[in-house]
Amino acid sequence: MSDLQAIPKIYQIDATLDQRTYLVGGELKSWKGDVSEVYSTISSSETYKPTLLGTIPDMGEPEAMEALEAALKAFDKGKGIWPTMRVRERIECMEKFVAQMEQKREVIVKLLMWEIGKSLPDSEKEFDRTVEYIHDTIEDYKQLDRNSAKFHKHQGVYAHIRRGPLGVVLCLGPYNYPLNETFALLIPAIIMGNTTIFKPAKHGVLLITPLLEAFQNSFPKGVVNILFGRGRAVAAPIMKTGKVDVLALIGNSKSANALQDQHPKSNRLRLVLGLEAKNPAIVLPDADLELSVQECLTGTLSFNGQRCTALKVVYVHEDICETFLRQFSDGVDALTFGNPWDKGVKLTPLPEPGKSDYIQELIDDALAKGAQIINEKGGQRFDNFIWPAVLYPVTKDMRVYKEEQFGPVIPVLSFTEIDEPLDDMAESNYGQQVSLFGKDVYALAPLIDTLANLVCRVNLNSSCQRGPDVYPFTGRKDSAQSTLSVHDALRSFSIRTFVAFKDNSLNNETVEQLLDTKLSNFISTEYIL
Ligand code: G3H
Repeated sequence: MSDLQAIPKIYQIDATLDQRTYLVGGELKSWKGDVSEVYSTISSSETYKPTLLGTIPDMGEPEAMEALEAALKAFDKGKGIWPTMRVRERIECMEKFVAQMEQKREVIVKLLMWEIGKSLPDSEKEFDRTVEYIHDTIEDYKQLDRNSAKFHKHQGVYAHIRRGPLGVVLCLGPYNYPLNETFALLIPAIIMGNTTIFKPAKHGVLLITPLLEAFQNSFPKGVVNILFGRGRAVAAPIMKTGKVDVLALIGNSKSANALQDQHPKSNRLRLVLGLEAKNPAIVLPDADLELSVQECLTGTLSFNGQRCTALKVVYVHEDICETFLRQFSDGVDALTFGNPWDKGVKLTPLPEPGKSDYIQELIDDALAKGAQIINEKGGQRFDNFIWPAVLYPVTKDMRVYKEEQFGPVIPVLSFTEIDEPLDDMAESNYGQQVSLFGKDVYALAPLIDTLANLVCRVNLNSSCQRGPDVYPFTGRKDSAQSTLSVHDALRSFSIRTFVAFKDNSLNNETVEQLLDTKLSNFISTEYIL
């Protein structure tokens, strides 16, 4: 799409990044085995040709077992330095890590753009949002600690209740937020005292490599282990051992189910999952059209629709459908396509080489079943992109209605009775969020009451989104398990565990001594401000 001259000097790729180290048991080990090439679908030559960014280790079962052993050893059956460490010290380690991470902004933002095609402002936002998430997590952890620094007494029994780690956590993140969403799992898992094994997503791998040293020097050995390779080769053998306590995965339910099924002890395994969604927009007849069109454009097409929270199906009341379609289609065709660093760019190259063909299949299937492409540019092909097609009228037998497209294509349905979208949502396998557009409170009130029982976030006259990250992020049915947010993630990666004792002089004196001597890191009424 753009030639070498068009790429500003600071964003050009001068040399490939050949990653040859991985982090296991506190050691940055050097890899001598096979490697996989990492390509960007952004072209740096006049005639389109994917750009080679570097190589990453192609690891397998032996390295996976090595990482698992290291994580188990660091947890050491609950005796490890990290799971028994004082809150203050754990926070100091995390602060050391985040300070070093902040120094890597430039290189990580550049790699985000090349590896996954995310625009410059969105890549910067992903980085900054992640740093903020870590700082907020530290603050929330302090609050959690302050709330625990006390004794309860009921029916003659004292209790000192805290949240303890669960054990070994396997973390797998998605390619669309390879930094933010992966860290939204990893950081709370680490800070709560778990030990972790982390494998970066299928795209957005190289951008993790500048952080390896910071992980190594900030945490005790074996607390963070980082592997490279395919999920099937690395994650599956780890799960099979039955020694993992938490599977933390943001991605699709097929991989989550496959991995879960490998684990032989289903009650041992806790799940923290963020999976697919098919969030609908429902545009009521009295909706502010200009605002609805704008929010639906953002909701359907931010990062080319490659977001789990993207609006993936749009229901418009038939009274306003024609006008909505006209304004929305004009809006889609007015968006700018270009490389991530191009000014004002909204649509960017798709990082998955086969994605345009997949979107084309969805379009062809819809056309064959009676839909039309409403916008002029819809379906136009480039080397690394397909222009978003606004498809209407979409019916339930079409693939684009049933599948999570996770890319640039927008199915639109019209409705006369509100029960039509509501019934579809109730039938759907997903239940993450909805966007509801309208003004009449008499129509909105009962709808909000129902929608809140079908999804986990009702966005009023606003597109769907995960953030701000302090708000709960979860979903019903196949969309999620557990809740993530700065606060909720600390709970998801820990369990309530406590010391209880009957109120008598022996116990009271013993506990007083435990507090005075500060010998226990668990029994403590000290806290950090
Ligand atoms: O891919 C799913 C993400 O959680 C979406 O996050 O709404 O901030 O883009 P976002």
